Amino acid sequence: LIARAFRHQFVIPDFLGFTKDIEEIYWRCKTNTDGKVASYIPQLARVSPDYWGVSVTTIDGQRFAIGDVHVPFTLQSCSKPLTYAVALECLSQEIVHKYVGQEPSGRNFNELVLDHNKQPHNPLINAGAILVCSLMQTLVHPEMTLAEKFDFTQNWFERMAGMENFGFNNSVFLSEREAADRNYALGFYMREYNVFPEKTNLRECLDFYFQICSMETTADSMSVVASTLANGGICPITEEKVFRPDVVRDVLSLMHSCGMYDYSGQFAFQVGLPAKSGVCGGIMLIIPNVAGIFAWSPPLDICGNSVRGVQFCKELLNVFNFHRY
Ligand code: DON
Repeated sequence: LIARAFRHQFVIPDFLGFTKDIEEIYWRCKTNTDGKVASYIPQLARVSPDYWGVSVTTIDGQRFAIGDVHVPFTLQSCSKPLTYAVALECLSQEIVHKYVGQEPSGRNFNELVLDHNKQPHNPLINAGAILVCSLMQTLVHPEMTLAEKFDFTQNWFERMAGMENFGFNNSVFLSEREAADRNYALGFYMREYNVFPEKTNLRECLDFYFQICSMETTADSMSVVASTLANGGICPITEEKVFRPDVVRDVLSLMHSCGMYDYSGQFAFQVGLPAKSGVCGGIMLIIPNVAGIFAWSPPLDICGNSVRGVQFCKELLNVFNFHRY
């Protein structure tokens, strides 16, 4: 890092200028009080709507953060590309996509719907993520106990985050499991169509899904995860090769087309970058070969995306020409 600094070889050479613009956008978004904190999981409804943080990590390890970037929140659907990446890395694209498609569903994230093959549309909506959890349970180290599988997955997430610790929010987990009629319905619906690999234990699989959604992290750690994906799978902080480049390509492709719920098409059109949001109010934004950004603010719009987060992404693109096309 220091050698690069002396040689002026950073991917964003004028980082100070860059962060000044980010700061201005941050303050503009802060005044936006639209949206509602997710309430369908009771424990999520208790989070303050005022939280707002943005963290940036470039692929060469320059970092900037503003606002509530150290406040823990549960990953929710921001976990979906992470679990999908681990499954791809451990199993291969061929095996994973025998079970799950690559098409935006055009529907709500938890809609009771499968594609024309009677498979989940993609791994970034609930049905697909539950399916990926079943692959993690039955095909990735099937000899592991449930506890070992949780540790294994958490460790993968931590490696993406440059070895930052991930926590676990038990009350969100319990609350989520209590309020999970739709996810159970999805599970039974998929089982009816033989979507799952043999030996899937549906109850354990859904528990594993809720556990992953209830893992806890911060915007600061998630910007490192985002930068690992921006950097072809090599964590810029530890320089560990976490994923093969083809895994990252698959994950980013689907984040681009399916990462923002039923707003994915508009987001891809306007912002033109892979992203994934979650009902926690997080948006993970990848600027390939440049940086990873994580924006977190709990109030959501009608699609389920963070209001301040979406505004931030749009305004960022007004200032910087990061759109892929
Ligand atoms: O399954 C649920 O309802 C939550 N644990 C996750 C929801 C979420 O963030 C939506 N995602 N696509």
